[in-house]
Amino acid sequence: MRVVMIGPPGSGKGTQGALIAAHFDIPRIVVGDLLRDHVARRTDLGQVVHRHLGRGELVPDKIVLCIVREALIAARAAGGDCVFDGAPRTMAQARAAHKIATELGMTANVVIQLLAGEEELTRRLLARAAVEHRADDTEQVIRHRLALYQQMTQPILGWYSRRGILVSVDATRPIDEVGRGILAALELKRQPPGHVPARVRRPVDLTRLGVECAHP
Ligand code: AP5
Repeated sequence: MRVVMIGPPGSGKGTQGALIAAHFDIPRIVVGDLLRDHVARRTDLGQVVHRHLGRGELVPDKIVLCIVREALIAARAAGGDCVFDGAPRTMAQARAAHKIATELGMTANVVIQLLAGEEELTRRLLARAAVEHRADDTEQVIRHRLALYQQMTQPILGWYSRRGILVSVDATRPIDEVGRGILAALELKRQPPGHVPARVRRPVDLTRLGVECAHP
């Protein structure tokens, strides 16, 4: 199973991606971590990208796609399954990554979209800043990252929806509840195609999950 995590900063891509990877025992590719690692090691690439990261700007597509290709090749060598967190973030990245993945026989089966409002996202990231001190978790940079998500990344979702692989999840609920909803949807999706009812192969909207239970 190849799962792509998409959502605004603070929506839980890392948190839920780690849960999915542990549950299915598959590797996790986190583009942000790979970039931050280059910055920490002061590699040539790290010197190019560190300003982009600090300002909450998107790193140029060319660099990201190079990382995506390398990561997909490594994941294929390790068996082919993975959780991909952090890319694509632009329509150009989505198209190019799809081409790379098709060449490698590694296209995504499921895209998890995490939904949460800006107030909650900002609250989470500022709380994290107090503990982890990430350079881009300041109020001003968070605002910019959220705006970039709306402008550049949100438009990709329609493309995945039309391909029938989008699962939208309300990410404002507690972490374990969000995780349970995602794992249940993924368990359904990984059934052999012949056994999956047609309705499950269409985009899935789980954003109302639990609402009826809370207000019977
Ligand atoms: P990246 O590291 O991917 O950052 P991001 O997208 O801004 O996302 P975050 O890591 O901040 O949040 P998350 O959604 O993973 O949430 P998390 O689980 O951590 O990218 C950083 C930078 O790298 C980008 O700004 C860009 O510069 C560059 N970059 C990366 N990919 C790129 C690309 N493809 N193209 C160009 N540039 C790229 O959770 C956040 C906090 O909330 C945690 O403290 C967590 O405990 C808490 N939390 C999570 N879920 C819940 C919940 N349900 N309830 C309460 N708290 C929760």
